[in-house]
Amino acid sequence: MSALHPDLLTTDAAGAVPVRFVGPAGEIEPGLRPWAGANGFKGKPGQLLVAPNADGGVAAVLVGAGETFDPMTARSLPARLPPGLYRLEAELEHAGTAALAFLLGSYAFDRYKARPERAPVRLVAPDGLDVASTLRIASACALAREMIDTPAADMGPLQIETIAREIAEAAGASIAVTTGDVLLEDNYPAVHAVGRAAAPHRAPRVIEVGWNLDRADLPLVALVGKGVVFDSGGLDIKPAVGMRNMKKDMGGAAHALALGRLVMQANLPVRLVVLVAAVENAISGDAFRPGDVLSSRRGLTIEIGNTDAEGRLILADILTRAGEHSPDLTLDFATLTGAARVALGPELPPLYTDDDALAADLLAAGQAVRDPLWRMPLWPGYRGAVEAEIADLRNDSAAWAQAGSVTAALFLQRFAPTTGSWAHMDIFAWNPKARPGWPEGGEAQALRACFELLTRRFGHNNASVR
Ligand code: BES
Ligand code: MN
Ligand code: ZN
Repeated sequence: MSALHPDLLTTDAAGAVPVRFVGPAGEIEPGLRPWAGANGFKGKPGQLLVAPNADGGVAAVLVGAGETFDPMTARSLPARLPPGLYRLEAELEHAGTAALAFLLGSYAFDRYKARPERAPVRLVAPDGLDVASTLRIASACALAREMIDTPAADMGPLQIETIAREIAEAAGASIAVTTGDVLLEDNYPAVHAVGRAAAPHRAPRVIEVGWNLDRADLPLVALVGKGVVFDSGGLDIKPAVGMRNMKKDMGGAAHALALGRLVMQANLPVRLVVLVAAVENAISGDAFRPGDVLSSRRGLTIEIGNTDAEGRLILADILTRAGEHSPDLTLDFATLTGAARVALGPELPPLYTDDDALAADLLAAGQAVRDPLWRMPLWPGYRGAVEAEIADLRNDSAAWAQAGSVTAALFLQRFAPTTGSWAHMDIFAWNPKARPGWPEGGEAQALRACFELLTRRFGHNNASVR
């Protein structure tokens, strides 16, 4: 996987072009007013004015900031500015976030298409910014996006395992991988059932990375991810439109691995377990079927109402596994339901947790780093919707409840660790509509919010990057 170029953020300000954020009531300096007027620049959000100097170079850039400045606006700059070196001017309250946004906006998925050679658009790091940390955060988001963007043929269970091995090795972490029929011996029956229809070289696997595990004095954080490398729906096959983007169904695993790498690179004083189930929800004579009853690592039986509700099945087993480490905090990421998008749309991931303090802290962290989450309820009234007649649970929640993202979360809750706190994020992991700085394709969601939370809760000096 390619890395973000560290030169994009530099500390050498020589010759940098100033970039100013201007609101609707903001002052435009007298020398630029005619040019701004001629170009209709009024400081509206999304507006950009590149002002030339006498030599035909760029004198200054004005960026419309609207009423309240959103530092994420800076995501659009790399794609819209002429090549060169820029600096964010003035005492921006959120200069650090804007610099990070600039790096996020520099991401392009170019694995299969050579783009025209273009000199880079680079940024001077704002004063006081922790450049290394900002680059690490942006790289984590780029890793998640690249994994999501890579088609299923090139991002199968083995490729996810390989990336996990690289991450573990670079950090001096341990890694254990359980593959194929060994999943049955090692008691991951649901992971095996969902993934067993895939071709042998794409066999299902549970990947577990452990770091600092001998440091019993440190809090233990478990990061858990849904890694369905392609979700055909299984025998309950998806219609074409619904299947089209299902290469992204390993987005949760990408998030857990990228966040895990970030935690280890930042050397956060925690014990860390990253748990990912990498499977292909495929169709073959050996596929699991509607009506089958699966067992699970926890011992609860699950009646399969729909083979397309596969994510909660694999998560059941690895959430149980996470619990065996007695974690203080468990965060899971999963592209779990289409209903999450119906509820909140593609930009706002639902957050589920019973821990009010954790919810408040996560929402606040997300707000601070502009990586929003929205809390949804683990509504006890709907618990019955995931109970079955002939088994302990059903994977397709009963129709009367609707609320598909909520009932999926309630299903997971039955398997979540009982030590510490657990939060589940039903992420979309995708930009469905291209905007400058937000290309259509894979997106990191809640990753920066979770890292900010971990830094605030467990960091050495409770420092945060802003
Ligand atoms: N991976 C999908 C959910 C999904 C679909 C996420 C589209 C993001 C975009 C999941 O495995 C799934 O198919 N869920 C079903 C569950 C249903 C069969 C109970 C769904 O949401 O329709
Ligand atoms: Mn599915
Ligand atoms: Zn799925």
